[in-house]
Amino acid sequence: MPEHNIFEIERLRRETENYAARLGRTPTAYVVTFGCQMNARDSEKLWGILLDAGFSEGTDEKADLVVINTCTVRENANERLYGHLGHLNSMKREHPLKLITLCGCMMQEKDEVERIRRTYSFVDVVFGVHNLYRFPALLAERLAGGKHVFEVWDKPEAIVEDLPVKREVPYKSGVNISYGCDNFCSYCIVPYVRGRERSRRPEEILCEVERLAGDGVIEIMLLGQNVNSYGKGLEEKITFAELLEKVCQIPGIERVRFMTSHPKDLSPDLIRVIGANEKVCRHLHLPLQSGSSRILKKMNRHYTKEEYLDLAKRIKEGVPGISLTTDIIVGFPGETEEDFEETLDVVRQVRFDSAFTFIYSPRTGTPAATMEQVPADVIRERFARLLDLVQKIGAEESGRDVGKILPALVEGTDPQVPGRVTGRLSNNVMVHFPGDESLIGRIVNVHLKEVHGFYYIGERV
Ligand code: SAH
Ligand code: SF4
Ligand code: F3S
Repeated sequence: MPEHNIFEIERLRRETENYAARLGRTPTAYVVTFGCQMNARDSEKLWGILLDAGFSEGTDEKADLVVINTCTVRENANERLYGHLGHLNSMKREHPLKLITLCGCMMQEKDEVERIRRTYSFVDVVFGVHNLYRFPALLAERLAGGKHVFEVWDKPEAIVEDLPVKREVPYKSGVNISYGCDNFCSYCIVPYVRGRERSRRPEEILCEVERLAGDGVIEIMLLGQNVNSYGKGLEEKITFAELLEKVCQIPGIERVRFMTSHPKDLSPDLIRVIGANEKVCRHLHLPLQSGSSRILKKMNRHYTKEEYLDLAKRIKEGVPGISLTTDIIVGFPGETEEDFEETLDVVRQVRFDSAFTFIYSPRTGTPAATMEQVPADVIRERFARLLDLVQKIGAEESGRDVGKILPALVEGTDPQVPGRVTGRLSNNVMVHFPGDESLIGRIVNVHLKEVHGFYYIGERV
């Protein structure tokens, strides 16, 4: 661990003790996470720091310290934060020693931070995505009597390795392989808030995976905004396909997933590695965004409708049984009925197992925000049509594997039915079957007997 981290965490430990004395008990902390897997992984680091520093684990926003790890990818993510802040403000009036910390992508936006400083002055600590490792120092400063400890950096200083981490579950873990994004899709704010793409060195990644495996982790999710361009800018020549192969070879690791794949960089090599390696899960999330080549060009996505269709076909041929999921944006500026029909056409041809559908949300500072917008009622009508189609096809596709015996990783007991557990298949579909807590974290073979909506009912064999 870099020396400055040890030092800062020790300082935070001392301040946490003082805080405990003021409260008359061990302070509780709670981390709220908005946004994507990247934020979820960062939150595990925030939890790691807090528990290491002497906070105990709170269960909700009533905790003494609340940290909100924000997202800003669409406007409704921002609105959600302000909703929470209103609520937290009234809680803080009842409990004046309560502490509120905001971090994550939205804090990289100067206007939002200004708004918080002005209108939400009860917020105690603010930091951004590039200085997460400064959290102990900043919180310690606030606890030592500082007011409004706000520190956001425009760009990263270094990739800091080895922060303490508290995993959400003991048997699976995300592992960052790259940070930031260089693609500048014209609608997207991520490259502005997360900065330029930086790949972690393969040795660091493999070392982390080995450590996790030693710690009982059996499933790894490799994380990056565009995992397929992994390796760019590194001294050693390495592609994502090569990295994936190496991760699979680590003893103890039984399943490997990854997020997110950009279609423009998905290599034939990657399809080959997935096909040849049973440990790589049979699920690929491949954001389409639009089925119209004209719109894709305006989105700066660097592929056409035909190229996407061809890629999807090659993936399905190369990896039989794979489940394809996607993201689609409705109402990108200038989208006509014909463009939208092209999107529906791709959905019909590819037959996604599921799709996240989003209404286009203008983000300040992105090129698309200043283009001519599609009227809201037109977007709403298209959105409903798309959702209908996506759900109809998803329902038709689900149940493909009825009758098969497939391995499932047991993730928990079924809250609805006592005596039943819930497992995840390699293709990310859930199966419920009789079993108890002792199975959690284990991979077991399950006979898929019937399908109910989007999940299976099965029996362990
Ligand atoms: N790096 C990932 C996804 C990041 S954001 C990728 O390229 O796939 C997740 C999804 O949010 C995107 O795939 C896109 O569908 C959606 N999204 C991003 N910006 C958006 C915006 N301004 N309006 C609506 N949806 C958006
Ligand atoms: Fe955003 Fe595009 Fe980068 Fe994904 S690839 S994070 S959509 S800019
Ligand atoms: Fe949101 Fe940041 Fe992820 S904006 S989607 S949390 S990278």
